[in-house]
Amino acid sequence: METLDFLKQDEQVTLPERYREMEESLMVERIWEIKEKFGNRLFMPGHHYQKDEVMQFADARGDSLKLAQISAQNKEAEYIIFCGVHFMAETADMLTDDHQKVILPDMRAGCSMADMADIDQTERGWKVMQETFGDTILPLTYVNSTAAIKAFVGRHGGSTTTSSNAKNIIQWAFKQKERILFLPDQHLGRNTAYDLGIPLEQMAVWDPQEEEFECEGPIEEAQVILWKGHCSVHEKFNVKHIENLRKKDPDINILVHPECTFDVVQASDYNGSTSFIINTIENAPAGSKWAIGTEMNLVNRLANEYQDKEIVSVNPFMCPCLTMNRIDMAHLLWSLEKLEEGEVVNQITVDEETTKPALQALNRMLELS
Ligand code: 13P
Ligand code: SF4
Repeated sequence: METLDFLKQDEQVTLPERYREMEESLMVERIWEIKEKFGNRLFMPGHHYQKDEVMQFADARGDSLKLAQISAQNKEAEYIIFCGVHFMAETADMLTDDHQKVILPDMRAGCSMADMADIDQTERGWKVMQETFGDTILPLTYVNSTAAIKAFVGRHGGSTTTSSNAKNIIQWAFKQKERILFLPDQHLGRNTAYDLGIPLEQMAVWDPQEEEFECEGPIEEAQVILWKGHCSVHEKFNVKHIENLRKKDPDINILVHPECTFDVVQASDYNGSTSFIINTIENAPAGSKWAIGTEMNLVNRLANEYQDKEIVSVNPFMCPCLTMNRIDMAHLLWSLEKLEEGEVVNQITVDEETTKPALQALNRMLELS
């Protein structure tokens, strides 16, 4: 199955049945107990999209950039229990030292966007781009990509990027080369390039299935080549939702993630990474009204934490990110109890050959952030 490609590389171990029947209060007690026992030997970062039942145990919360930064800084934890998705755990493994082991409590916690660019497709597409543009193009990849894609980008002199530093990274890229290839999220690439003043006519899309460019003007004039990938969660917001919200309440503020489509971002009032969304709500005046276009766990958490503000989802029928939600209390406890027994389950490791060039791309980003 395409969306679970990474499971071929990492052996999947499944949750024993008894964890499914365990009482929640017992799980909470055991997780705290094991965390305390391990102390600083164990570190548990959590992405903002994780469920509250998991986030209550997180030692640090963050957006993708912050999670990469804290992984690179932490030198003391022997075990990093990564509460997030597969590409984030891979990134943590590459940024931490060899003695540190990264564990993803449920190996099925992938990312459908990351799966939309595989390395063979990328190599084939790159060949066409070299024939079309010569040595004038630099690849950039959103961190929501496999380690193999990051390695490809690193080998070709490019950088990774996250939603909170995409502007800086794209500006840096244009100082290196005349044009960029942006993998794998066309929306983040298009929204950011447009904000930097690049007109839509100078952006083309590379379709990896059809192996062809989609563009309105002559391809030679394209400055930005967008990989045809997207986030299945953020594509569920549309302009009609925003129009309906504004019709009902003209005072409502629309705040969305830049993984949303160009039309949605243009129709919104503000857009930015998950940290930007959190900071904006935190600093908003009491009584203000907000519709947020991002993953539901985060929207619900903000609505609960800031009850002095009115907070709803841009899409009233929104679902959470299914893969982020794979990490739950049961999987967390299971991986911790295994550690207590001296066994590491669901370890994420990236081989040396991939890590070396991928780290070049990651370190370029960290230096520019
Ligand atoms: P950020 O936390 O960097 O905004 O990323 C959002 C996301 O989709 C992670 O999968
Ligand atoms: Fe991937 Fe989208 Fe889920 Fe983030 S929200 S992990 S980009 S599918």
